[in-house]
Amino acid sequence: MEKGWHSHPFFMFNSKQLIYYPLIREEGMTTDIVILAAGQGTRMKSALPKVLHKLGGKPLLQHVVDTARCIADAKIVVVAGHGIERVEEAVCGNDITYVQQAQQLGTAHAVLQAAPHLQDRGKTLVLYGDVPLIRRQTLVSLLEAVEENSLGLLTVDLPDPFGYGRIIRNAQGQAEAIVEQKDASSEQQRITEVNTGVLAVNTEQLRNWLPGIENQNAQREYYLTDLIAIAHRADVSIETRQPVDSEEVQGINDRLQLAELERYFQYQTAVSLMKQGVTLADPRRFDCRGALQAGSDTVIDVNCVFEGKVQLGNNVTIGANTLIKDCQIADNVEIKPNSLIEEATIGDNAVIGPFARIRPGTVLANNTKVGNFVETKKAVVGEGSKINHLSYVGDATLGSNVNVGAGTITCNYDGVNKHHTEIEDDAFIGSNTALVAPVKVGKGATVGAGSAISKNVKDNELALTRSKQTSVPGWQRPEKNNR
Ligand code: UD1
Ligand code: CA
Repeated sequence: MEKGWHSHPFFMFNSKQLIYYPLIREEGMTTDIVILAAGQGTRMKSALPKVLHKLGGKPLLQHVVDTARCIADAKIVVVAGHGIERVEEAVCGNDITYVQQAQQLGTAHAVLQAAPHLQDRGKTLVLYGDVPLIRRQTLVSLLEAVEENSLGLLTVDLPDPFGYGRIIRNAQGQAEAIVEQKDASSEQQRITEVNTGVLAVNTEQLRNWLPGIENQNAQREYYLTDLIAIAHRADVSIETRQPVDSEEVQGINDRLQLAELERYFQYQTAVSLMKQGVTLADPRRFDCRGALQAGSDTVIDVNCVFEGKVQLGNNVTIGANTLIKDCQIADNVEIKPNSLIEEATIGDNAVIGPFARIRPGTVLANNTKVGNFVETKKAVVGEGSKINHLSYVGDATLGSNVNVGAGTITCNYDGVNKHHTEIEDDAFIGSNTALVAPVKVGKGATVGAGSAISKNVKDNELALTRSKQTSVPGWQRPEKNNR
């Protein structure tokens, strides 16, 4: 369930859609999914392997793996090249087999590296690690196209087909070959139906055909696309299928394409959120880098970023320029602009910000207020308590209806260790107080403004360390020297 939830923006919000897709298949048939990810990615101009660049906060390859995981019982084989250790570490799971292609001699050579790991009776689907938004339904339709005498090939019609392999069809309209850009005649270059690279084929046939592929072409590479002509010659028909939209088969070669696909991906996420009953001030200025779940009538202003797993209740209002990461936020919460909230749990009707920094381990109970320029960390704040201005509250437990005055600091760190501050119900902390932890302020106690509290304060007492105010009678201000 978890996996499905993270796997695809379109399935994020409805748990009923998270079921694995069962393929109708014969007894004992296997499905293998080979993901090609060994390409250098030179045009990214990056030290990071291309497939680890992120889309929606998730590595490109992780998107493909998550979609592959929606195919029931599929064995996943990833072919990686340079930086394979980093790729293996970033995108992992017991269900993934990694194989290294030391030299990138072409897509057929890459699949050949995976061949020894493929299961015996079944179908193999070939995907690209740098084509992140391929959909589950598309994979299913390709796998269903594979029979003893047919294979499935995903093609797309592009107004500008430059750079892609062209689909060559015969007089009967059947696909019979793919010709790469660099090998295509000027007539073939006018063909707009192109190879997406994604195909599904009978595993045994794949095994038999791969070694026969040669590199007698313009790039001296072993082309997987030669499989099409080989299959055609063996009387295996080429069943072509098309994706739902072209972004689904959009590959990432450079940072511009990555940014463009990111915007598309974010817009799709925004649209599905709006369909769930969330108001977005501008769906083009919305970023979700994880899994966001939201109740109805939640309103999100512009330039908000959601990371990790975020749950929002009903009627939550989020002000502009707010970043929320791994949080649970209950109903009717108001978050004012420019707040940063991480790993926190926020109760009903809480009001946060503007300019609040809520750090990990913060728990705000119902009806709490944390105002501007307040930083909290590992702070458990009880119902109805307020920290309205300019404070630091860290490693602290506050009871209910506590009032923390402006400029109050929990001095939690002695230079070596962290210490805890406890403030009990109904206590009132005057402005500009330093609470030197470990320290406890009892129920209903009051601390005078400007105090440095290093000893426990008893229930209902007033504590203050403020020095007495003195007056100097007859004192006069110095006058300016007129030299
Ligand atoms: C390939 C197809 C082309 C198709 C296009 C779609 C071939 C020969 N051509 O061309 O018909 O239109 O994709 O984008 O297949 N890879 C490896 N090892 C290698 C070479 C490539 O793992 O030795 C991986 C790359 O990381 C990438 C994928 O295979 O994910 C495609 O390789 P790329 O070099 O981008 O192929 P294209 O020339 O674009
Ligand atoms: Ca490519």
